[in-house]
Amino acid sequence: MTFQAPKGVPEYYPPRSAIFQAAREAFAATAARAGYSYIEVPVFEDTALFARGVGESTDVVTKEMYTFADRGGRSVTLRPEFTAGVMRSTLEHNLHQGQLPVKLWTAGPAFRYEQPQAGRYRQLQQFDLEAIGTEDPAVDAETIAIAWDGYRALGLTRVRLMLNSLGCKECRPRYRAALQEFLRGLDLDEATRERVEINPLRVLDDKRPEVRAQVENAPLITDHLCDSCRAHHDHVRTLLKDLGIPWEDAPRLVRGLDYYTRTTYEFDHPLLGAQSGIGGGGRYDGLSEDIGGPPLPGIGFAVGLDRIVLAVEAEGLAVQAPPRVAVYGVPIGEEAARTMFKLIGELRAAGVSADMAFGAKGLKGAMKGADRSGASHAVILGERDIAAGSAQVKNLGTGEQIAVPLAEIVKTLKEKPTS
Ligand code: HAM
Repeated sequence: MTFQAPKGVPEYYPPRSAIFQAAREAFAATAARAGYSYIEVPVFEDTALFARGVGESTDVVTKEMYTFADRGGRSVTLRPEFTAGVMRSTLEHNLHQGQLPVKLWTAGPAFRYEQPQAGRYRQLQQFDLEAIGTEDPAVDAETIAIAWDGYRALGLTRVRLMLNSLGCKECRPRYRAALQEFLRGLDLDEATRERVEINPLRVLDDKRPEVRAQVENAPLITDHLCDSCRAHHDHVRTLLKDLGIPWEDAPRLVRGLDYYTRTTYEFDHPLLGAQSGIGGGGRYDGLSEDIGGPPLPGIGFAVGLDRIVLAVEAEGLAVQAPPRVAVYGVPIGEEAARTMFKLIGELRAAGVSADMAFGAKGLKGAMKGADRSGASHAVILGERDIAAGSAQVKNLGTGEQIAVPLAEIVKTLKEKPTS
């Protein structure tokens, strides 16, 4: 019997894993340039953290969590996202007692029990960034700019930004009531009517044409914002304009997680079909209090690295896998293999990336390995070379080959350009 990876779990192996790695590194580098530090949070947490943080009425919590009792009888859940865990960790370790905002990023797998399809997975990979402890709208714009720059750094040109404000605890309840009144007058199925009572904003997000047609004239949140939410929203938009980042106002944009307040946004990619959301985020000014902390506003986003890999491929962007190593050893015979093994170790210690042919391949097979490795130079060592105390250093680009004394190999190769 052979095994397969679990359903809905994508894997990234060479050469395609280079795109995945490039995606994660593009966002990590962009975040670091803006002063964000790395945080590592648990893969599983107390189930109640997500129930309270993400929201009891969300699909993520009601249908999609990987929840189980551990051997000690505690209910734990594999993280469906990062924000709740990052906020919990910030509070637990008092990071918010230092300079604000606390700027953090992390990346890794999250888990949602969804119906798998292209671009929608049960183990999904996110890059996540959070700025905790300020209401300054400039930080909202900063998070958007970082995501935007990350996509740009990868060469993606078709990304679209949709922007909305979901109001605050002052104006949202008034909007919610107005929306509910409107929705109660429509001809909706039982499940949707229930949704109207529990989470009416989500009805605006319904993809079915018969519902879409009916909610066309629904009241919009942006017409119901209080003065301070309106000013906040306008400020964010002004800053985006200053940065030259284009966006679409999306007054029906509602996110699938309950903690959002004020600024909310999504990035999508038109070539990805049904699962076109390649990132999303927003403010969560009430999340800290929802999980038992002090008032502590925050904003952040997560991008879906799996979908970014698909977008990079859909735009036909070549991500060059870097050469595996700079130098490749080709030993002929047992004694040469032993000498080469030591030499390769010395090269690595000197900071030169190096690999060698293993398994008594013979000259031809080993040279093929050298070509495939992407190395710029091969070091060829035969019996005659050993007797002469030297090895052949071959430039794999030009074919030029010279004999170099064994004692000088490391120094010689360290000085060679490795392209
Ligand atoms: P989210 O919109 O649920 O937000 O997820 C962010 C991104 O993760 C999505 O735009 C999508 O690219 C990717 N994603 C989500 N689910 C899947 C899936 N099943 N398969 C593949 N990709 C997926 C959050 O998770 C928030 N925590 C973002 C945030 C951070 N808000 C504030 N701070």
